[in-house]
Amino acid sequence: MASSSSSSEDNNNNDDESKKKTTTTTTSSSSKSMKTGLGWMEWLRGWFYLAYEMLFQRIMASHLQNPMPLPPLNDFTCIITGSTSGIGRETARQLAESGAHVVMAVRNTKAAHSLIQKWQEEWSGRGLPLNIEVMELDLLSLASVVRFSEAWNARSGPLHALINNAGIFSIGEPQKFSKDGYEEHMQVNHLAPALLSVLLLPSLIRGSPSRIVNVNSIMHQVGFVDTEDMNVTSGKRKFTSLVGYSGSKLAQVMFSSVLHKKLPAEAGISVVCVSPGIVQTNVARDLPKIVQAAYRLIPYFIFSAEEGKPSAAVQLLDLQVTISSTTTGSRSSLFAATDPQVPEYCEMLKADEWPVSAFISQDCRPTNPSEESHNLETSYRVWEKTLQMVGLPSDAVERLIEGEDIDCKYGAHNDEN
Ligand SMILES: NC(=O)c1ccc[n+]([C@@H]2O[C@H](COP(=O)([O-])OP(=O)(O)OC[C@H]3O[C@@H](n4cnc5c(N)ncnc54)[C@H](OP(=O)(O)O)[C@@H]3O)[C@@H](O)[C@H]2O)c1
Repeated sequence: MASSSSSSEDNNNNDDESKKKTTTTTTSSSSKSMKTGLGWMEWLRGWFYLAYEMLFQRIMASHLQNPMPLPPLNDFTCIITGSTSGIGRETARQLAESGAHVVMAVRNTKAAHSLIQKWQEEWSGRGLPLNIEVMELDLLSLASVVRFSEAWNARSGPLHALINNAGIFSIGEPQKFSKDGYEEHMQVNHLAPALLSVLLLPSLIRGSPSRIVNVNSIMHQVGFVDTEDMNVTSGKRKFTSLVGYSGSKLAQVMFSSVLHKKLPAEAGISVVCVSPGIVQTNVARDLPKIVQAAYRLIPYFIFSAEEGKPSAAVQLLDLQVTISSTTTGSRSSLFAATDPQVPEYCEMLKADEWPVSAFISQDCRPTNPSEESHNLETSYRVWEKTLQMVGLPSDAVERLIEGEDIDCKYGAHNDEN
């Protein structure tokens, strides 16, 4: 994991304060009535949904094929963040095996190159070599996001899908901050993917019809975002990794909802959030060893990221026959990135002026995200605050759609980056 520092968003954004005052007048005037947390009914409902998904995800997804059949993807270019592990790794492999040009956007490029070598060897004799490449991207550095986007956009090629998959859930870890001064869950799970999505709009427009797929989580149901305390440092709420993770996932849903509204239908870009279910991956890497062992021993409920392959614990318990046919963690991402009905569904939501963006559940069916995510006033506040925090002008999306260039505070011209 990259650097940690004790700086806070307040210190970091002093230079943005005056801009903030002018751009968020409405926000400030309504802040008196701002919620300070989820109501207990919302909170209970959120935990109920979480427990329900944990217990019944296999039954809900039992109609899906394994592996999920994908259409031929020979003219399809996609970028997948965090594709060295878990859900992202499987998503990358399967898209590449279906013919897509896959760009693994990762911080550990050596691991990505080893994976490609392994996949090419396994694929050998089954068709043309896989079309995969690696580009460096560290979401703990907004400068890295800008560098990545500039390098990609400079190719002037189309992008058909951006899959914002990389994420962290540092369970039980103390609160940490990126070198940009932001709480790490908020930066990796929401801020950096949001910056990436906006900066890659020119390539997504070239690839239109195209999609932004955000790998979200059922945990957003218990999340809350305080736009005046994105780093959870004010003391109003006690920080835990659960607060950090669930808040960052809710912020992503809210940002996606506004992005979905701001993108005109002519741009042809669909914005979708997905829940992969409860999946056995490295996401629990920060848990104490004993808890990790327990996590691996609840095989019936947990999906494996690798479709068709039973998890190690399942093999150990010789339960392949019972569960391998439904063992999967990457189907909702693959579905959201490739199914032809997804853009139609997004367009329908836009036409209905639905307050939230499309959300696809682990069973690949559309679902409604949390009640809190329907709060459009907060969603617009999250939008404004996010653009400030990632150093973009408030009209960045409108200008990019018009074909103008925009400047990001974290771009190369800023020596501090
Ligand atoms: N597993 C679940 O039950 C579950 C449930 C709901 C949602 N999700 C979501 O699914 C997504 C994938 O998670 P996973 O379960 O597959 O976890 P994982 O196995 O831990 O994979 C996470 C990936 O994100 C990458 N990553 C982490 N920090 C990064 C950074 N600063 N810059 C670039 N890449 C970074 C990791 O790279 P390194 O290998 O270099 O660390 C890794 O490739 C996440 O967004 C997660 O929140 C997972």
